[in-house]
Amino acid sequence: MTKKIAVLPGDGIGPDIIAEAVKVLKKVEQKFGTSYQFDEYPVGGCAIDQTGEPLPADTLNACLASDAVLLGAVGGFKWDNLPGNKRPEAALLGLRKELGLYANLRPAIVYPSLVGASTLKEEVVSGVDLLVVRELTGGIYFGEHKRTTTEDGTEKAIDVLEYTRPEIERIVRLAFELAMKRRKKVTSVDKANIIETSRLWREVVAEVRKDFPEVEVDQQYVDNCAMQLVRNPKQFDVIVTENMFGDILSDEAAMLTGSIGMLASASIGAGNNAMYEPIHGSAPDIAGMNIANPIATILSAAMMLRFSFNQVKEADAIETAVAAVLEKGLRTGDLAVKGQPTLSTTEMGAAIIEELDRM
Ligand code: IPM
Ligand code: MG
Repeated sequence: MTKKIAVLPGDGIGPDIIAEAVKVLKKVEQKFGTSYQFDEYPVGGCAIDQTGEPLPADTLNACLASDAVLLGAVGGFKWDNLPGNKRPEAALLGLRKELGLYANLRPAIVYPSLVGASTLKEEVVSGVDLLVVRELTGGIYFGEHKRTTTEDGTEKAIDVLEYTRPEIERIVRLAFELAMKRRKKVTSVDKANIIETSRLWREVVAEVRKDFPEVEVDQQYVDNCAMQLVRNPKQFDVIVTENMFGDILSDEAAMLTGSIGMLASASIGAGNNAMYEPIHGSAPDIAGMNIANPIATILSAAMMLRFSFNQVKEADAIETAVAAVLEKGLRTGDLAVKGQPTLSTTEMGAAIIEELDRM
């Protein structure tokens, strides 16, 4: 059956990298006989320019009706001065909330051929294979944000951080389930020495772990975890944490792999909706220059095949093709060490497609 993919290129380098991912998926159709329908919609800054809204109703409805959403990136200097709920980023939050995507899976895998590309020592990063499971529809991102003044007229800003027990439980449970399919270790990250939502988080972990006796559990404060990620990242298998801690730690984890241009993500929920996107941003300074690394988006497309369409051998093929290209020493600028020749966005896409062809 044809799978309907809502394609949301967005802003900045979004269109450059999405184009390569779509080409890869078309090659997969050809090789494996799968069938995808690609429908493109505006989101983020370009949607603001076209319609006045970062997430137009047509885009949202198409995403709700799709089998999966493939998104590039949103945001740029041009829209930086808009109020919070009118900014391009509001589209991302809207999609996450409206599609019910409470779980964000961000794997950080160090490819053997890229150990030299990391800013950290080889012996620290080689062999790292971890998964950040980030809560995505709660916490401070979705609490009230407001400005007021105190009685004496001093300006004041407020952001509310809230979590309910069920919101915590479903994400923690998912993390344990995912750990059971991996190396059976969960590191739960919080700030329970200071904040109440984290204390509730710990209580929930204590409950949920009873159902997974085989899983080893570690609990770390977020500041310690940030330190452990660069000190000894091999200790981690699955990291589960709340929305904002996960935002920060997943960027940090990304750099273990050499470049944030490598990291894919899947956002999933209870229903059939899902969204796949690279974890990097729209990089407006290099937009349209054909130099962005398309690998994170191509790997996000592979996650889409694996998680939403259950097309496992097709997903494996894409991931193998990416590894093979890197093994050959082909690099976009973000991955190249000084003096190494670099491939453009389209050349990297073409190299991966060539690998798929050869399989
Ligand atoms: C991410 C991004 C987003 C977030 C921004 C663009 C709203 O940093 O997906 O990690 O903070 O969630
Ligand atoms: Mg982020």
